[in-house]
Amino acid sequence: MPLRDNRKLQRSYLCRMAEDLAIGTGTKEEQYRSLLPQLQALLEGEPDLVANLANIAAALKEQFGWLWIGFYIVKNDELVLGPFQGPVACTRIKKGRGVCGTSWAEAKTLIVPDVEKFPGHIACSSLSKSEIVVPVIRNGEVVAVLDADSTALNEFDTTDQLYLEQIVNLIRF
Ligand code: SME
Repeated sequence: MPLRDNRKLQRSYLCRMAEDLAIGTGTKEEQYRSLLPQLQALLEGEPDLVANLANIAAALKEQFGWLWIGFYIVKNDELVLGPFQGPVACTRIKKGRGVCGTSWAEAKTLIVPDVEKFPGHIACSSLSKSEIVVPVIRNGEVVAVLDADSTALNEFDTTDQLYLEQIVNLIRF
């Protein structure tokens, strides 16, 4: 096979999914519904955790444009910053600290309409006004959390919770 054709073949194998995300329009629910199968396709057959977390963060950032979206991963009894999109953030969070550490300790999704009213909220960016944190639970243990921050108050609700919980369930940890 000529080298050029071989390269083309390799490229199509390495990037089976189109590089472009189709940005959904309409209600928040419609946007999640358009995003979900695309994320499934992106993750399908790819075993690398960092690659998958990075693409989930990028896809959510593209679709919703939130200030910050990304993962903290449980390592040696701490949350350590993982793949994300947005401004630089604190690298380590202890169990029970901030919204992320509380979501980890309680193993449940936390929706924070106004971060200033959440005792112990960790302000990585002064622009963040509301937040949602979704734990990733495997074999009954929290292994990571997905954190999203918005510059708007009251950005996140139970629709985000429903779909973000489905999205984190796609991840093979
Ligand atoms: N606000 C989070 C810290 C992480 S940043 O928002 C990226 C918290 O209170 O846990």
